[in-house]
Amino acid sequence: MKTLRECIKEAEEKKVAIGHFNISNLEALHGIYAATKQVSELAGYQVPVIIGLSEGEEEFVGRHEAEALIAEIRENDNYPIFVNADHHHSFERFKESIDAGYDMAIIDEVKLSIEENAAIVKQCVAYAKEKSKEDNRDILVEAELGFIGSSSKIRDKIPEGVSEATMTKPEDAKHFVQATGIDLLAPSVGNVHGMVKGGNPKLHPDRIKEIKEAAGVPLVLHGGSGIADEDFTEAIAAGISVIHINTEIRVAYHDALKKFMEENPDETTPYRFLQPGVEAIQKVVFARMKLFNNMK
Ligand code: 13P
Repeated sequence: MKTLRECIKEAEEKKVAIGHFNISNLEALHGIYAATKQVSELAGYQVPVIIGLSEGEEEFVGRHEAEALIAEIRENDNYPIFVNADHHHSFERFKESIDAGYDMAIIDEVKLSIEENAAIVKQCVAYAKEKSKEDNRDILVEAELGFIGSSSKIRDKIPEGVSEATMTKPEDAKHFVQATGIDLLAPSVGNVHGMVKGGNPKLHPDRIKEIKEAAGVPLVLHGGSGIADEDFTEAIAAGISVIHINTEIRVAYHDALKKFMEENPDETTPYRFLQPGVEAIQKVVFARMKLFNNMK
């Protein structure tokens, strides 16, 4: 079985992106995995997928429970499905997820200055290296540079503090990667977390290309929800290797459940009233994964 590092390297070479999808519950995991298998069947090979849990999602699902579920699928089905501790905001939280067996973790201290951010990220990288050696694992560490707003939700406008002027600068990316030793970098390139009513801003593929050349590590695009298909395609061609989607999954699940409950107010069996939510998630993820993997 390929490791996550090998899957990302392969995505880089093939100029495709691995989908990273967040979950808040078991239904989302089922919907995402069903879509992943559907895409794999079309592709004729196993398309890797990453399941992400933010601190809040991890608390709701259970840190250990999520890791155990995903590791069980990976081992039982011999399938490249991985789990990421998404946007962890302290060394302590980062460490807890690594200790719980997560394949990768994102330390997000983007609110700090670059140097303060780099110091904490460096500490996380050192810990992940030590733990990888101790447990014979290959834990990946990702960090963010450049603010893109926080929380996955529908927004009235672009989050405060995000503008073209605050996009990641290639020279900062180079310095940050060298200073920290991270495996993956999440830059700000026009992307924002969440879906902006009236449309998300356009991405900047030229900036992605410059950052990729300067940083020399795989790049991750956060804030994937609401981005136009052609923007994704350009971003992948410019050097994005992993793409995060969350809000679109939340909205699809919410809307499907709401509709079903309105139409069937007396249905009290969870596996009946939750099923439309699973199917709605599967549909969203299937379309995104096909696009990220250059499939028609
Ligand atoms: P969206 O909610 O915009 O899809 O962003 C998700 C994300 O980047 C999670 O890390």
